[in-house]
Amino acid sequence: MSKKIILSGIQATGNLTLGNYLGAINNWKKMQEDYECNYMIADLHTLTIRNNPENLRKNTLNLLALYISAGINPEKSNIFIQSHVAEHAELAWILNCYTYMGELSRMTQFKDKSAKHADNINSGLFTYPVLMAADILLYQADLVPVGEDQKQHLELTRDLAERFNSIYGETFKVPEPFIQGVAARVMGLQEPTSKMSKSSSIPNDSIFLNDEPDVILKKFKKAVTDSENIVRFDVKEKPGISNLISIYSAITGKTKQDIEKEFEGKGYGDFKVAVAEAVIEELKPMQEKYKELKDNPDYLEKIYKTGAEKAKIIANKTLKDVYEKIRISFIEERKYECLQIMLK
Ligand code: TYM
Repeated sequence: MSKKIILSGIQATGNLTLGNYLGAINNWKKMQEDYECNYMIADLHTLTIRNNPENLRKNTLNLLALYISAGINPEKSNIFIQSHVAEHAELAWILNCYTYMGELSRMTQFKDKSAKHADNINSGLFTYPVLMAADILLYQADLVPVGEDQKQHLELTRDLAERFNSIYGETFKVPEPFIQGVAARVMGLQEPTSKMSKSSSIPNDSIFLNDEPDVILKKFKKAVTDSENIVRFDVKEKPGISNLISIYSAITGKTKQDIEKEFEGKGYGDFKVAVAEAVIEELKPMQEKYKELKDNPDYLEKIYKTGAEKAKIIANKTLKDVYEKIRISFIEERKYECLQIMLK
């Protein structure tokens, strides 16, 4: 039996958080043995927010180094950079023509980001989920491992695949979101009712993957809790402590009940230190490897070039089928280009 196909990605916006790690990368790593995995660095998506262009290339390569440091093995998984495979932008245009304005206006991420960046509500921000659908559908992915916040985008992807298939016949596999684990939605340490985010402007709200151990400890010590001083899981009444329990559970594999028992009679101080230490230990090997890899551009180049070639073969096959279905002519040279890559 052939393995199920996975596709996922992270935006190359620099500074990843513990949320990105527990909600995405950590699960990706575990899936490599049992699935055919494609992990993409989403650089085109980052253009929807104004960033310093100098940083984009650096962030893209750094994210590649981070994927590998975190245990994504290029021998097992196909790792590539989104913009290297032009089919993503092409399919996004086609899918745009099958997506309704109403659907995109309902996307909570669009609403959040347009409130945050009121001076730059560009149409890319609006159609962002369509590019994400193209990313996924090109690879005929069965499963898309993401954090909870991407669920709505996945639902749109499924709707688009079903819509296209119902008009033109079976073209895209309809993917399932794969949202796993107790940390599918890691919350901010200072604002535990909002998700931990790369772009949070609140000091000490996010743990970044490159934070030094003393910074991690300090941030956890300052985490907002409540006055009960009992380690007990209750998202409604105790969002701060519940978030810390989820983080600790995701890293140690202990259940929430075990954690409550372990810290019975102990105060929040002890618990916060235990969570911080678990996070520090978990991130340590990745941080060490990252320091080595990020200054090895030749190695990284080899990985992303091979990745792009493999990705192109798959993406090109799907796009060709789409073009045939909608009767857009597909120039022959393109087939040859693909063939040449395959023969290499
Ligand atoms: P991005 O870059 O915002 O986040 C990358 C991944 O991290 C997860 N995540 C979280 N999980 C748990 N708790 C959090 N606080 C948290 N914050 C982020 C996200 O759910 C995501 O899985 N649109 C996507 C990138 C993308 C993509 C794709 C993903 C582009 N094309 C195709 C899957 C498939 C995004 O902005 O993720």
